[in-house]
Amino acid sequence: MHEIFQRTTVIPVVTVARAADAVPLGKALLRAGLRLVEVTLRTPESLAAITAIARELPDMVVGAGTVLTPADVTRAAEAGARFLVSPGLTQDLVAAGLACELPYIPGAVTSSEIIAAREHGFSLLKFFPAIASGGTEALRQLAPVFPGIAFCPTGGLNDGNAADFLELPNVAMVGGAWMAPADAIAAGDWAGIEEKARRAARLGRG
Ligand code: 3PG
Repeated sequence: MHEIFQRTTVIPVVTVARAADAVPLGKALLRAGLRLVEVTLRTPESLAAITAIARELPDMVVGAGTVLTPADVTRAAEAGARFLVSPGLTQDLVAAGLACELPYIPGAVTSSEIIAAREHGFSLLKFFPAIASGGTEALRQLAPVFPGIAFCPTGGLNDGNAADFLELPNVAMVGGAWMAPADAIAAGDWAGIEEKARRAARLGRG
């Protein structure tokens, strides 16, 4: 696993509508002890948000999520993303992801998708949408079949269930928006986000 993911248990997955919110959001997450952040490429200002965090918060490791095309890979890298996350995987994305040399977490849920990702050399995979795809029980059943494959489940995780995922031997980390939902970001509720992020930062293997 790439060194930037080591010691990471929780990745906030944030969707930022206004780039101006990126730095105060990043500061709240950092104060809470969360050093990585995945900014989804789902809004027109997402790339500007990545650039703002990369420039102004050197202690933060900002990545791009919802990377769906090779053009997204290029745009995210140019914006300053230090890692990339996709909900799935295609031949074109593999080629673009490997060519850009950033740490890349593609998504895989089914056995065939996991086998394909493994054939391309990936050993850390996003498992999305985690709850809808069978949650902890699905990951538990995949573990003996795919030794050496670690997952980052996201999609439907929250304060109440994230720890259950982290107990699984094939879960390296978890991700989600529960500590920084889009409406809290839009409202500028940095104190509320910090509090939830602080609880999230405490998750992990005790
Ligand atoms: C993702 O892209 O990983 C998800 O949007 C995060 O899912 P959540 O919003 O249910 O946490």
